[in-house]
Amino acid sequence: MRSLIDITDLTRDEIDEMMAVAADIINRPEEYSDKCKGKKIATLFFEPSTRTRLSFEAAMYELGGNVLSVASESLSSVAKGESVSDTVRVISSYADIIAMRSAKEGAAFVAADSARVPVINAGDGGHCHPTQTLADLFTIYREKGTFDGLTVGFCGDLKYGRTVHSLIAALSRYKNVKITLISPAELKLPDYVKTGVIKKAGMVYTETDDFEKSLPELDIIYMTRIQRERFEDRAEYERLKDSYILTAEKMRSAKKDACVLHPLPRVNEISVKVDADPRACYFKQVENGKYMRMALILKLLEESKDPVKEDLLKGQEIVVGKTGCGNPRCISQTERELEKLFKAVDEGSKVYRCVYCEKRAETPQVFRHYEIKPKK
Ligand code: NCD
Repeated sequence: MRSLIDITDLTRDEIDEMMAVAADIINRPEEYSDKCKGKKIATLFFEPSTRTRLSFEAAMYELGGNVLSVASESLSSVAKGESVSDTVRVISSYADIIAMRSAKEGAAFVAADSARVPVINAGDGGHCHPTQTLADLFTIYREKGTFDGLTVGFCGDLKYGRTVHSLIAALSRYKNVKITLISPAELKLPDYVKTGVIKKAGMVYTETDDFEKSLPELDIIYMTRIQRERFEDRAEYERLKDSYILTAEKMRSAKKDACVLHPLPRVNEISVKVDADPRACYFKQVENGKYMRMALILKLLEESKDPVKEDLLKGQEIVVGKTGCGNPRCISQTERELEKLFKAVDEGSKVYRCVYCEKRAETPQVFRHYEIKPKK
């Protein structure tokens, strides 16, 4: 049995296979209409969502399955103080698969560790959002036919934009993908992505705050919303909220075959006038997301026939810290009695990252080495 916490839990080949399944679903939907008969997905959304939750639910209905839905934290026992691990243990008795969104970074990891059914990370705070990446990859593939050799520009809130973090991790596995990171200084990409993914993979990248100058170079223009809900300082949000706006006029300097993506919801990062431009692909992205979620549900349910859980720590060397990672948004701050786990940045390194939220923790006071036990 396997969960999807991070996009790299899936290999490139597996993503290719899922794209082939998604394309087949588009061509022959009737072949899939009762593949999940008798199965239930629980969608636990402890943060606002329109498309991701409904996309999972539509995906399950189109596969002939059923849906149990929690659409708000305030309507669940989490509001009474229930932990994530207890919540998913309970839901494992009702549903065959869980899609969960939480404001806590690392919540999906904790859920996958405790659940008896596969867990899909539908967004964990500002950390990652692997199923949006499946939608993004399928859209890029359908529009461009390849990933190799593309120049992908990410524009806006690269600090808190979890979809950016996951898509960069996915693209780091393709050949010659160049990355352009466009953001104000305050909203730069976190170190665990820049050092831990881009530099580690040897990707060519540039960092700038100049959108207009970068625009003509880009094959993919990935716009993002400034993530208001994650700012600690309201005044800073107000100052940065209109940093970048893609207008029809600016699109004149973009490549003729560029592709504009946005995970949505849009606030004002893309003028409505751009919607009529054939290069605007963000509504196609929504549609593609549903088909990739169908392919994912099919895959994880198939793999759940084997009840032995995959090792979430993938054989890495893990240490238990005396204190946590210090990130106020990390699940380790609120989940009771959760062990403070850290992984070494590189083999033998004394620099660690929190297992849950991946924030750097220079020298956590190492308490002991952690032994991974196979779980049922
Ligand atoms: C994104 C998210 O929730 O991270 N939306 C989505 O899932 N389609 C992007 C965002 O909220 O800005």
